[in-house]
Amino acid sequence: MTHTLIYPSHSRHGASGHLEIDGCDVVDLAAEFGTPLFIYEEKTLEDQCRRYQEAFRARTDDFEVIYASKAFCCLAVCQLVEREGMSIDVSSGGEYHTALASGFPTHRIFFHGNNKTEAELRYALENGVGFVVVDSFDELRLLERLAAERGEVQRVLLRITPGVEAHTHEYIQTGQLDSKFGFGLVEGQAEEAIRLALEAAHLDPIGVHAHIGSQIFELEGFRRAIAVLVDLIKRTHDSLGFDCRYVNVGGGLGIRYTESDVPVTIDEYVDCKVRGVQEEMARVGLPMPRVLVEPGRSLVGKAGITAYRVGTMKEVPGIRAYLSVDGGMSDNIRPMLYDARYEAMIADRADDELDTLVTVAGKHCESSDILIKDVMLSSPRVGDVLVLPATGAYCYAMASNYNGNPRPAVVMARDGKARVIVERETYDDLVARQLPLEGRG
Ligand SMILES: Cc1ncc(COP(=O)(O)O)c(C=O)c1O
Repeated sequence: MTHTLIYPSHSRHGASGHLEIDGCDVVDLAAEFGTPLFIYEEKTLEDQCRRYQEAFRARTDDFEVIYASKAFCCLAVCQLVEREGMSIDVSSGGEYHTALASGFPTHRIFFHGNNKTEAELRYALENGVGFVVVDSFDELRLLERLAAERGEVQRVLLRITPGVEAHTHEYIQTGQLDSKFGFGLVEGQAEEAIRLALEAAHLDPIGVHAHIGSQIFELEGFRRAIAVLVDLIKRTHDSLGFDCRYVNVGGGLGIRYTESDVPVTIDEYVDCKVRGVQEEMARVGLPMPRVLVEPGRSLVGKAGITAYRVGTMKEVPGIRAYLSVDGGMSDNIRPMLYDARYEAMIADRADDELDTLVTVAGKHCESSDILIKDVMLSSPRVGDVLVLPATGAYCYAMASNYNGNPRPAVVMARDGKARVIVERETYDDLVARQLPLEGRG
């Protein structure tokens, strides 16, 4: 067996010694679909959705699990999440469009973003978006105007910045005082936002939202954010008559990228959030609202792996051995963006001893294009298939065409069969929207 703590839950080392994802030989998939290739395991996606829902169901009837689609937004994943009875959040008109195109019910969609454009908001209202999570005073005014033009009342949540610093990389902290997101508590800004939303004839402020960051391993920050939110709910209940029916406590649960990562479980995370809201609401003497969470990484991260082909190996005597693969920063920017760590495996020899220390480099013209600095592999060779586990979240979603690299294909594996859910881009796709200089076309 492989380390299913990092790899998708139904992965194993097959009789051939190759890595398999739910019965699909990864070396064969790489040959059939080409590399780099994202491979998702459908059952792990389902398992993670169900873990969240079961953890909630054991504690409350009034909850909503919302998939933060920024982690990986494509038609197939939206459909899977909808099949599992979950809601979805989008952070742009494009993600909203993708969710709609997948057939996702618009009333179960939450629209996020610190600078939603007028065109994006119009598009969302025209299509009956369920909830807008309002992030700023400017957006409050704009949304009121747009809803008034339509003669409709839009349900909104107000994004609050609780002033809590999550224990994670500063680039993925979002709840601290100095943040571009949401309404802060200093000088009564959050209260003022709630007051304005209550006064707005075409907005129905049904609740509050806070998301303190991502890849978080400690529950303490979540608990403190809930206490801050509930204090705000109580103050605005007493001063403004605010009836807070939804408390969205964000996402943020960390996952295991390496063996040394030890995140809390989904059950512990949900327990912290539900019990936190229950205890805090009881403390201030107000009725229990609906509890919402919006996980991204912990739903899709572990379900995906990336398969690359090893192209060159280079020894810098006495310093290090570079092994270069046919992808890198254009399909996984996380190591360069915030120092993310990964493990790796040679899929052709999953059972063999780890005997060679290498640095895994990407193929882009940047020295920083290093996927893993120092990892032990089993006798790597040119032509091998190298796999990075836990690449299901924020990898394809952040992919680019840097250096003219077409974005990879994505396949979904189940019971020994893999089907393409995102086609590989072609060279023609790279130039499809470009126009020649006048007169030279
Ligand atoms: C507002 C909001 N909600 C939810 C998420 C999902 O977070 P995660 O993937 O850590 O669960 C994010 C991502 O940072 C976010 O910005």
